[in-house]
Amino acid sequence: MRGAVVAAMPGEEAPAQRLAALLGAALAPVEVHHFPDGESRVRALDAARTTVVYCSLNRPNEKLIELAFAAAALRDLGAERLVLAAPYLCYMRQDKAFRLGEAVSQRVIGGLLAQSFDRIVTIEPHLHRVRSLSDVFPGREATALSAAPLLAAMIRRDGAVANGLIVGPDRESRRWTEALAAALGAEFIVLDKTRRGDGEVSITVDEDAPIAGRRAYLVDDVASTGGTLAAAARLLAAKGAASIEAVVVHALCSGADLDRLRGAGLARLRSTDSVAHATNAIEVAPLLASALAQEGAL
Ligand code: R5P
Repeated sequence: MRGAVVAAMPGEEAPAQRLAALLGAALAPVEVHHFPDGESRVRALDAARTTVVYCSLNRPNEKLIELAFAAAALRDLGAERLVLAAPYLCYMRQDKAFRLGEAVSQRVIGGLLAQSFDRIVTIEPHLHRVRSLSDVFPGREATALSAAPLLAAMIRRDGAVANGLIVGPDRESRRWTEALAAALGAEFIVLDKTRRGDGEVSITVDEDAPIAGRRAYLVDDVASTGGTLAAAARLLAAKGAASIEAVVVHALCSGADLDRLRGAGLARLRSTDSVAHATNAIEVAPLLASALAQEGAL
């Protein structure tokens, strides 16, 4: 991608630089000024014919409008192909109106980003009823990368595979819990979760699940409030796990949530740097670079 540009939205300079270095592309920060009345002025400093915009979409509401402005500014500077590298993609969970009158935010955000970008690259988007990321971005290229190999490599480095038990906290996690366990050659189980509210879940497990004495690794795509991991950790502790830790792709939880997780018996939480977080332990830049390496420099 020599000759291409990676444009970093505010706060994304460090991970964008890691990606740019791997791609041999130039880094160009995008400047944002916040006016006293809450509006934003966005200024792109450089663009190439192929420009990658780096923006992880946690806490997304303000970012989304500024991203649309940045895309427009980059086109004005001559970008012909705009690729959004959003390691965390927001609003993927609301993929239907669960109650009459609710907006299907996944569809709205998909349409919005499709207006600005030719291709969207992300990692482990939370797709449930929608099977393919392409369905979210009508008429655009969409790439959903799996973080399973990164997580598997880290767990392997722990040297814990022999007594390790990979634990998916809910049925939705089965597919990728299974993929992770297969990559490790480790045993896995999937728990049964019922959500009762934003931070409130209850979790059960089969009576004969082989938990006692095992080094349990909870794995999940997202830790939002950490409620799921906390409930799962309490259950694993009650079932006699020798140790309990967690590895997630996207860590969104707060410091108070981390305290609650410790209280629930979780010895350690590690995450990828898809979202900047105190628990970051795995860089996603190589994964993103592998998907972007074929983009022409032009
Ligand atoms: C849900 O299906 C996801 O995979 C996560 O388990 C969920 O988003 C985690 O949310 P929280 O941390 O708030 O329990």
